[in-house]
Amino acid sequence: MPQKKILMICLGNICRSPIAETVMAETLAKAKLDSVVVDSAATGSWHVGNRADPRALSTLQKHGLESKHIVRQITKQDFYEFDYIFGMDEDNMSDLRRLAPKDCKAELLMLGDFGLSKEKRIIEDPYYQRGDEGFEVAYQQCVTACEAFVKQRLLQ
Ligand code: 4NP
Repeated sequence: MPQKKILMICLGNICRSPIAETVMAETLAKAKLDSVVVDSAATGSWHVGNRADPRALSTLQKHGLESKHIVRQITKQDFYEFDYIFGMDEDNMSDLRRLAPKDCKAELLMLGDFGLSKEKRIIEDPYYQRGDEGFEVAYQQCVTACEAFVKQRLLQ
C-alpha cells in the first residue's frame, strides 16, 4: 500500500486528539500497517508547545500506551500533506471545512462516523469535566472508531 498520512484534530490538542493519535498508532501497529503515519494538531493555539493533559496521559497509561506529543496548531500545508484529517465533533468539522484550501488533498472525516452508533458518534470534549471519566469514554470511542476505519478504509 502506498504511504498514507492521518491527522487527528481537536480544539486544544491536549485531550481527544492525542488520545486518538496514540490509539490509531496502536491500531495500525496491530494491523501491521507500518507505513501509515499518524499525527495530531489543534484548531486553537492556546496550548501550542505543551504536552497532553495529565488526565489524557494517565488514561493512555492505564491502557499501556504513551503519548510524547507536543501540541501544534493545524497549518494550511497539512491539508495538502495528509490523506485523512479527522475531527472529533461538529465544531472541529466546521473549523476544518472553513480552514481547508479549495484544492485540499485530505479527506475531512469525523472519527466517530466509523464504527460508532449515531448517539455515540460525537467524541465530546472532556477538558472541563471533573475527573478522568470523560477521558476513558473518549478513549473507548477512539478504540472502536480507529479499528473500524482501519478495517473499512486501509485493509480492504
Ligand atoms: P481537546 O480539549 O480539544 O480535546 O484538547 C480541550 C482542551 C483545552 C481547551 C478546549 C478543549 N481550552 O479551551 O483550553
